[in-house]
Order: sequence, then structure tokens, then C-alpha cells
Amino acid sequence: MNDRLSARERVSGLCDVLAARTGTDARDWFPVFKARYGMQVAFDVIEGRHGRGAVMTQLFTCCTAVDPIVCTGFAPRYADVDADTLSIDTDSAKRLADADDDLRAVMLQHTFGLIDDASSRRLTAFARERGALVIEDCAHCVTRMARDGGGTPLADISVHSFGVEKILPTRFGGAIWINPKLAETDPQLDSDLRRHLGRLPRPTKRIGMVTRLYVNENRILSRLPGGSGGALRSLLTNIGLYEPPIAEAERRGGLAYEPMGMTPWMARRATAGIDGLDANETGRRRVTAIYRDGLHGLGDVHIPGRILDGEAQPLLRFPLFAQDTQQAERIIAAVRAVGGYAERWYRPELFPGVTDEHAYGLDALDRSTVQVTGRLVEGAVSLPTEVSLDRAGEIVTAVRGAAA
Ligand SMILES: Cc1ncc(COP(=O)(O)O)c(C=O)c1O
Repeated sequence: MNDRLSARERVSGLCDVLAARTGTDARDWFPVFKARYGMQVAFDVIEGRHGRGAVMTQLFTCCTAVDPIVCTGFAPRYADVDADTLSIDTDSAKRLADADDDLRAVMLQHTFGLIDDASSRRLTAFARERGALVIEDCAHCVTRMARDGGGTPLADISVHSFGVEKILPTRFGGAIWINPKLAETDPQLDSDLRRHLGRLPRPTKRIGMVTRLYVNENRILSRLPGGSGGALRSLLTNIGLYEPPIAEAERRGGLAYEPMGMTPWMARRATAGIDGLDANETGRRRVTAIYRDGLHGLGDVHIPGRILDGEAQPLLRFPLFAQDTQQAERIIAAVRAVGGYAERWYRPELFPGVTDEHAYGLDALDRSTVQVTGRLVEGAVSLPTEVSLDRAGEIVTAVRGAAA
């Protein structure tokens, strides 16, 4: 019975919950296997319609956010980030924008789920002036999007992830939202995007199997003695029995597969995850507020200004920036000692670091244009937000002790 349904019909329940949660139309949502493949389709279609050119993005991100840009032949232009929003600094974008460049798109990334509507609007205005599309990266804040003063989403294309170490416990899947206004400004691009995203092939049986096995495989691998779990994980990956969050090819500027859609199982899990998103976000907001209040004014440790103002946001991780890498490592060790899994995201840049600098245009990068990014990367620490309130309090004490 399920086989008689079209690819779109099999995931229509997911499109409905995405639309309901965001106040948008289900017809504008397109589920994909991972967000990176949705981005790849978007760039392929942009290339087909407008030709290659440059895409402005940031180094303070995961390599899988840049792979779709470089593997489709676009030139990445790395703007500096604003230390208070962790997104592209519009002044840096303006300085970087070279009159000869065919700037096709600007990435508006809500790093760790931090959304700043005011600077998002400035970056959007800059992109529009340059005739570039705004592609919003909501990988860290599924269903939360930057909006204009009237509450309408700003981006032309918005990218959401249900993947590993993101907001939902789903581990696979993503979705692309296409702003219906694109049909007025670039009708051909709008219809090409919808056609390609609406007809993605279903993942193979092997992918269907390894995605279902993923959680149990990790459970077993993490219990194996010594370093044998890591070696077995690599072996299983090589023979196609384990789906790694980031493939080797994805650290060399490529992507592991051709674009594909979701399996019905992934769509059901994502739908259930979105149904539980209120509770998920409430917990993260509370923990974010504890960190913010407990760590505010902590000497040399920087907390992005946008986190300190207004209502606490349901962050994926709470970012802190130590004075240097040594201090960052002391903080990470102290937090882990109290049972909080502090991370190094995004140290190194294009996390977890790339193995082919040329593929990402890093060999040609003038580092003086990304100095803020460089400083943030050196001291980067990110605290978990999916912990109990008591644990969050202990983490605050641990950070304060280690930073002193
Ligand atoms: C900022 C950012 N964008 C995009 C992605 C890609 O998401 P997915 O894993 O669903 O392909 C990631 C994944 O780590 C990310 O961190």
C-alpha cells in the first residue's frame, strides 16, 4: 500500500507539521536525507539557472555546510563573523564583496541556534542589493527562522536538519523550505527548485538499513574496550555497514552520495521529534538561561552579546570563547569532569577540520579578513544544553572555577 504512494505523499505528514510549526505552507517544504543534500540540490539548480559564481559563507561552521558550495563548483568567499551573533558580519561582507564577483548567494547561518533578526535583516538587505539569494542555515534551530518586522521569514531558501547532534533526537533527515515569494522574483528558479527537490530518489535499502541500525551500533561500539570501537567503526564504514556523520570525502570538499530524499521511517521519526519540540526547546531555554546568568561577566571569557540580551533562546549548544586554547581546554576538562559533554565546536574551523585546503579555497584566503573568526576559533568551547537544571548549575560552577 505504502509503495503506491508517491515520494511526496510518503513524507506529506512531515511537511504538514513543519508548516504548522512555522506558519508556512506544507507545499513549500521538501524533505531530504540530510540537509547537506538539500543544499547541494539548491546550488545545482542555481548553477543551472544563473551559472557559477561566488557564495558568501563563514569559516566558523561545519565542513558539511560548505561542501555543497564547493562540490557544485561555486567559489566560497569567507566573510568574518560578528562575535556577538556568530553569523556573517555585514560590514565584513561589504568589504569582501568584490565588484567583479558574481555573488550568487549569501549564507545566513544561525550558529548554535542563535537567531538575531536585526543583523539577519541587514545581511539580507546586503544580499538583495547585490542580486544574491539568501540561503538560511537553520541546521541548529530546526523550524526557527529569521523573520522580518511583519513576522515573515526573510530567506529565499531555508535549510533545516534533523541530523546527528542537532536539536531533534532523529539523527537523519533534513528539509528545505522555499520562500513562495521566489515565484515572483525568479519564477524559473522557483519552479526548478521545486521540481528537483520534489523528485529526489528514495534512499537505497542499504541506507534504510544502516540508518535504522545507527543508534544500536553506536551503543555497542562505545562499550568496546580500548580503542577497538573506533577501529571497528572505521571498518564498518568502509564496508557500508555504518553511516558516519561526516564521511572522509566530506572533509575533502565532496559529498558521500548523490542527493536523495527521506525514507518513510526517517519522516515518521522527524514528525515525532517535531511533535515533541515544545518540551525540547523549553528545556534548552532554561539551561541557556542558567548558563547566561551564571557565566555573565566572567572575566576574559566572551559570551556573544546576542545571548545576553532579551529572552533566552533554545540553543543547540551554549558558546563560550576563552582567551586562548589553553584556557578553553581547561574549561572543557572541568565541565567533562562534572559529567557535562563540553565540545570544541568549531575548533578547528570548518569543523572537524578539512584535509584538502585547496578544495575549500583556504590556500588563497587572506587571513587578515577573518581575524574575529580566528580569535573565536582559538578559544571555542560549547556547553551542552540538553542537561538537567542541576547539572547545568554544576557546569556553571566548573566553568567559573576553570576560568579563574
Ligand atoms: C551549520 C551546519 N549546517 C549544515 C549542516 C549539515 O546538516 P546535515 O547533517 O543534516 O547534512 C551541519 C551539520 O553538522 C551544520 O552544523
